[in-house]
Amino acid sequence: MPAIRTVIIPAGGLGTRFLPATKAIPKELIPVGDRPVLQWGVEEARASGIERTVLVTGPGKEALALHFARDLRLEGALAASGAVELLEQVRAISALTEVDVVEQAEPLGLGDAVLRAVPLVRGEPAVCALLPDDLFVGDPPLLRQLIDAYAVHRCPVVALRRCPAAEIGRYGVAAVEGDGPIVRVTDLVEKPRAGEAPSDLAVMGRYVLTPAVFEALAHTPPGALGEVQLTDGIRGALASGPVVGVEYVGRLCDVGTPEGWVRTLVELLPADPRLGPSFRAAVAALVADGPVVP
Ligand code: G1P
Repeated sequence: MPAIRTVIIPAGGLGTRFLPATKAIPKELIPVGDRPVLQWGVEEARASGIERTVLVTGPGKEALALHFARDLRLEGALAASGAVELLEQVRAISALTEVDVVEQAEPLGLGDAVLRAVPLVRGEPAVCALLPDDLFVGDPPLLRQLIDAYAVHRCPVVALRRCPAAEIGRYGVAAVEGDGPIVRVTDLVEKPRAGEAPSDLAVMGRYVLTPAVFEALAHTPPGALGEVQLTDGIRGALASGPVVGVEYVGRLCDVGTPEGWVRTLVELLPADPRLGPSFRAAVAALVADGPVVP
């Protein structure tokens, strides 16, 4: 069976949940540790065997693709100053992935963003999709866990996580059959109203998508929030074949809001090879002496 080689990364949003930081800087370029959120996502895809990224961007978001392009001026300057390690890091970013860009002129929803990418993935039996707001930490990489399930079941795959009742209405929610970690999805609801969720299993930001999903999406009207929802497209694909869910191992951190981003830094930085020592020292000083700024 041919391997999955492409990941679609929807990144056309306005970043309204992270304003004012995201007024001029795309939210996907906000750093976690020493690299932008988007690079974390592409690194996960690469570690899962993915070679190519289709970025669905919006107007004014050219910097996303530039992050992965060679910058010969920068490389020349680093080489001239003998900054060998930095030079290697900068080159390694461009070696992570091939990048193709397609523009979503208006933010009409996640399903609409995925539809924009379809002409660039025609002929591929399946592709991955990754929402960069959800940063994954764990082993094996989350996309790899989904690709492994696809290799067995050869159908669309969603990532699932059990979620407290108070939060479930923010997500796509799956009705399922079977006992985990791989379950059969029988229905999907995007952002159910209180008391109407079919289960406590939330769809998280990783997918394997097949042409059956694209076909259904093309005929999917706007749903929750008046947007074309990817969840509804996957639900549509249930009419033509199975969909499975993976109750994954590892942790997804929400970096799409300032609150989630701060929590993620506190969770990840202690173990960061470069920033861990200074972060731990700052936290130890905070605990011992109280805040520096009263
Ligand atoms: C999107 C999807 C939703 C999914 C969520 C995961 O929602 O539409 O089904 O559960 O990502 O983070 P959004 O976060 O864009 O509202």
